[in-house]
Order: sequence, then structure tokens, then C-alpha cells
Amino acid sequence: MTLTNIEAPADPTAARRLILALDAASRPINDSALDAALGLRIAQVEGRLNTLELLDRYGVQRFAQGDLSYAVVRSFYRAIGPEARRRPAPRVLDLGSGYGRFGFYGALRHGLTVHGLELVAERAAEAARAAAALGLKGLLSFEAGDMLAVAWPPAEIYCMMNSVLPDLLPPVLARLETEARGRRIVVASVSTSNRAFAAAGWLREIPITVEDPAARELRLWESI
Ligand SMILES: C[S@@+](CC[C@H](N)C(=O)[O-])C[C@H]1O[C@@H](n2cnc3c(N)ncnc32)[C@H](O)[C@@H]1O
Repeated sequence: MTLTNIEAPADPTAARRLILALDAASRPINDSALDAALGLRIAQVEGRLNTLELLDRYGVQRFAQGDLSYAVVRSFYRAIGPEARRRPAPRVLDLGSGYGRFGFYGALRHGLTVHGLELVAERAAEAARAAAALGLKGLLSFEAGDMLAVAWPPAEIYCMMNSVLPDLLPPVLARLETEARGRRIVVASVSTSNRAFAAAGWLREIPITVEDPAARELRLWESI
């Protein structure tokens, strides 16, 4: 196996071995090859979606697929390594989960329980199908819904990877702040979302070292 020519794993054990090998290395990951190896049929699903219909269904939202590269996912799990090893194990809520890259990696690398909340129903359904095919249903769940409208299962780690339009960030932050009243939470963000988290007085940044240039915008925050 090379890191740029990934063979499809036949079973969950092979998938886990593949993620562990990629995690131990620092060479680039071929994103579409890894998606395919996990059984995610992204191009097929995206090919059936059209922007006008999504606008009609969901209104004005940031529904561009824009999946973050596995370089960011790998950097995220390296950065939260100490959190991931806490017991009881933290639960992850991925807000705007797309096809579940964060979930698959976290379940296979750390055995974490990850719930993905995704606006576009077809994406959530595809992630759930692939998770079931890999026997990961006990760890991974995906739900279609607007993160501002549906109930959130409790979690200790939240991925908020710039998935909503800027004017929806304040209500998302308000909900996260409410969650943080009951327990310590950690939030990961990238890009323009970082500004909103940096300005939140109830959060402080956790300093992290990110080696991969592709993930240089990744930031971690904890509630205080
Ligand atoms: C940039 S993608 C990130 C996907 C995933 N976290 C990843 O990195 O692979 C953002 C995702 O958030 C979803 N999204 C946008 N607004 C949302 C909302 N209000 N509620 C739930 N999901 C939303 C989009 O449909 C899109 O799939």
C-alpha cells in the first residue's frame, strides 16, 4: 500500500489498519482515494444534487460540499490526541459533517463515538450507509438536519469547521455556550469561524502545534 494509491479495504479491520498507517505517516493523503477506500461514493451523490433544488429545500445556507482535506482531519486528531485518550472517552459532534470524514477517521483511529449533523440529507445518508457497511454503526451516526433547528446529542468535542454562513455563527456559538454550562467542551474550527471563536469570552484557545501546512488554520478552544 502506498499513501497515494490506496487499495479499498475489504473489511473494518483493513480500514482501521489503513487509517492507522496514514496517521503514523506525514506524507500527503489522496483524499478521493481514501474516501473510496472507506466506501464513500461522493461523486455519485454530488452528481445527483443541484444548487437550485438545494436552495429551494434549505434556503440560503452554505451547502457547498467543500469537504476539508484529510490533512486537516489528521491534524485535528493529532491535536486532540490527549483529549481523545481521556476516560470516559469524549463524544464528538461534527456540526456540518458532509460525508463524515471526521467521523470515520475518529472512529477508526481512536474508537471514538462521533455524531455528524449535516444539512444535505443525501450526504448524511451516504455517510450512514458507508459507516454501516464498515460495521461502524455502534460508533458513527449521521443525521440530516439544520444544526440550528435540531436537538444536539451531548458531546465533549465539537467540530465546527466553517460550515455555516457568517450570520449563522452567533446562534451556533450561543448554543455551544449553553452546552458548556453543563460540562467542559472543546471546539475545533478553521478559517473565518476562528474569528468568532477568538472573540468568545467563554472560550480560551488551546495552543496546538500543527505540522501540516494544509491545516495551518486549524484552531482548538476550550470552555472556561
Ligand atoms: C465545508 S463542509 C464540511 C464537511 C465536513 N465537516 C468535512 O470537513 O468533511 C460543510 C458542510 O456543512 C453543511 N452545512 C451547512 N450549513 C449547515 C447547517 N445549517 N446545518 C447542518 N449542516 C450544514 C453543508 O451542507 C456542508 O456539507
